[in-house]
Amino acid sequence: MTGLEHLRADFPVLRREIGGKPVHFLDSAASSQKPVSVLEAMDEFYRCCYANVHRGAYTLSVESTDRYEAARTRVASFINAPDPDQVVFVRGATSALNLIAHGWGGTHLRAGDRILLTEMEHHANLVPWQMVAARTGARLDFIPLTPEYRLDLEVFEDKLDDDVAVVGVTGMSNVLGTIPPIPRIAEAAKGVGALVVVDGAQLVPHQPVDVQSLGADFLVFSAHKMLGPTGIGALWGRPERLEEMEPYEGGGEMIADVQLHSSTWAAIPHRFEAGTPPIVEAVGFAAAIDYLEKVGMDQIAAHDADLTGYALDRLAQVPQLSVYGPAGVEGRGGVISFTLADVHPHDLATILDQHGVSVRAGHHCAKPLMRHLCVPATARASFYLYNTRADVDALVAALGTASDLFGVG
Ligand code: ALA
Repeated sequence: MTGLEHLRADFPVLRREIGGKPVHFLDSAASSQKPVSVLEAMDEFYRCCYANVHRGAYTLSVESTDRYEAARTRVASFINAPDPDQVVFVRGATSALNLIAHGWGGTHLRAGDRILLTEMEHHANLVPWQMVAARTGARLDFIPLTPEYRLDLEVFEDKLDDDVAVVGVTGMSNVLGTIPPIPRIAEAAKGVGALVVVDGAQLVPHQPVDVQSLGADFLVFSAHKMLGPTGIGALWGRPERLEEMEPYEGGGEMIADVQLHSSTWAAIPHRFEAGTPPIVEAVGFAAAIDYLEKVGMDQIAAHDADLTGYALDRLAQVPQLSVYGPAGVEGRGGVISFTLADVHPHDLATILDQHGVSVRAGHHCAKPLMRHLCVPATARASFYLYNTRADVDALVAALGTASDLFGVG
C-alpha cells in the first residue's frame, strides 16, 4: 500500500455508483479522470480572463496569452526541457506523431530509407509512418518481441544500419505495459544517425521523464491521460529537429508574413500551432501537472508498481485467465491485458461493468500486436494514482462471477 487512498476524494466521478455498485475505474490508459483542481482552474479561467491569445493589446487577451504561455513553461519544466519553446501544443499524441511523420519524415525520408518501429506500437505511431512511407518510398521495418513480451534488443541492434532514418518506439505499451529501455535504444539509434521518436502517451503520465537524459529527438504525450482535459497534448523536440520540420497545418498565427503566392513561417513553436489553440485546455493541462507534481511522480510510479504487482498476483489465481505482458513489475507499467478462456472480451467487459468495474475491451488500437498475440481482442485493466487494492479486489471478484456465468473453470 502506498498511502494515496486519500486522493480519491479529489475525483468527483469516483463517487458515482453504477448499477448500485461503487465505480471501480480501471481504464486510465484510455483516459484518466480529472481532479477538482483541474476542473476549477479551467472554470475560473473562463470566468475571469478568457480571450483569444497572441492577438490583442487589450488586457483580457494579454492575460490569456500569459496563462497560455505559462502553461507551456509548466509542461517544459515537467519533462525538464531546457526551453519552453521546445514544447509545441498539439491536439494530442496522435496529432503530434502525424506532425512529425509528415512534417519531418515527409521532407527528410528518401526511397530506400527505413523506418524502424516496434511490433507493439499503437496505430498512432504506425499509420502516419505508413502514409509517409507510401509517399516517399521509405520502407517500414519492425523490432520484434521476445516470448516475455519485451523488445528483442539483439534483433534491434542487428537491424540498425545506415539506412535506418527513423526509430519510433512507445515509451510504454498500451496493451502489454512493457516499458522499453529508451536511453539504450536512443543511443544505439543515434549511432546510425537515426531520428528517435518516443510515443510517451502512456509513459509520461506515470513516471518521471527527463528529456535531457532520454536521448530522444521527439517525445509526445496527451494531457487527457494525465488528469488534464482532452484536446491538448505536447510535442517536445530538440531545437535543431524542430527547425528541420515543416509545418503540417497552415493558417493564422503560424506565419511571419503572407503574400498572395507565398508565406514565411513564424518562429518555433508557434509555426506549428495554426489557428486558435486549445487555450483553456492549456490552463487545465498546467493544473494537472501541478497536481501530479504535488503528489510526486516517483510516488505515482511506486503506487502503480504496487497495484500492478498485487493485481498480477491476484489475477494469476483466476482459472483460465491469460495475461499478456511481462511477468513482474520490473520494466512494466500498470496496464494489464487479459482474456478469460474463450469468452469474448466485449462480453467480459459488459459483465464486469455490471459489477461497477470499468475496463476497456477491444484491439486497443494495436491490431498488429493482437495478431502477434493470436487474439482478436483483449480486456484491459489499467491503473492510476486514484486506484486502490479494493479496485483490484473488485475486478477479481467480478471475474469470478463472470467465470460462473460463462461456465469457465
Ligand atoms: N490509446 C488509448 C488506449 O490505449 C485510447 O486506450
